[in-house]
Amino acid sequence: MDLQLEGRTVLVTGASSGVGLATTELLLAEGANVIACARDQGRLDAAVGALPGAERAYAVTADVTDRTQVEAAVQQGLAHFGSLDAAVCNAGRSLMSTLTDASDDDIRTELELKVFGSWNVIRAARPALAASPVGAVVNVNAILARQPETRLAVTSAARAALLNLTRSMAAELAAEGIRINSVCLGLIDTGQWRRRYEAYAAGGGTQSYSEWSAEIAADRGISLGRFGRAEEVAYPIVSLLSPRASYLTGASIDVGGGVTRQP
Ligand SMILES: NC(=O)c1ccc[n+]([C@@H]2O[C@H](COP(=O)([O-])OP(=O)(O)OC[C@H]3O[C@@H](n4cnc5c(N)ncnc54)[C@H](OP(=O)(O)O)[C@@H]3O)[C@@H](O)[C@H]2O)c1
Repeated sequence: MDLQLEGRTVLVTGASSGVGLATTELLLAEGANVIACARDQGRLDAAVGALPGAERAYAVTADVTDRTQVEAAVQQGLAHFGSLDAAVCNAGRSLMSTLTDASDDDIRTELELKVFGSWNVIRAARPALAASPVGAVVNVNAILARQPETRLAVTSAARAALLNLTRSMAAELAAEGIRINSVCLGLIDTGQWRRRYEAYAAGGGTQSYSEWSAEIAADRGISLGRFGRAEEVAYPIVSLLSPRASYLTGASIDVGGGVTRQP
């Protein structure tokens, strides 16, 4: 099926790794132009530069929590491609911490990343998205937004704030023709989990990565019994951006392999 994204321009934050990189790859394969954003220019250039269709990708560096940097990145992308039709607000990480262990700064930083990491991008891109006949945004979120975990208490709360805000953004920006949806992730095998495994192994853990991840998948009640792959998230993201999804806004799709504990 033609997703009607050929020649469209999409901004992807967190494009140098994991879900953002897989999304960039799929968008390029669909014939879209991609404004690829992350903080580390070298890593971004190496990752995106190796993708098929990389000549239609343009790398910009910005910290998504910094409004000025995000505005500059959007302007650079617009100057390069001339238009902007969609954005994927994906940059982020999670904070393994209970509320008891988190400092006030940890909590502020996490809220800043989840809330402003999306709002800074949407606010900066808004005039261009409104000018597009197919303006669309996907906020990459987590199932934690509705199903908090004590060991990820701060991240869960920040995710809930983003999910709620996404509904409000979708309602407010609909009048400008901009659709905004959420993709809520379960456990996806990306840099985040590889780093956690490295910490486990460095701490004396003896399981292989596949044993370790299968145990976590079972513990979290994932019906499919395994972590997801980044490309399994990229497709739902890109399909929501597609003009074929023109009646979808304010929606949230869980991509969690059938995690069953959600209320
Ligand atoms: N993997 C999972 O199981 C999972 C589960 C639920 C939700 N999520 C969410 O899904 C999104 C993608 O995660 P992932 O697993 O693909 O992560 P990843 O592999 O660690 O990639 C994170 C990407 O975000 C960029 N980034 C991080 N902080 C940034 C900032 N402040 N400004 C700009 N770019 C930033 C990183 O590049 P630089 O470091 O160079 O900036 C990198 O490109 C994140 O929002 C994550 O929280 C992931």
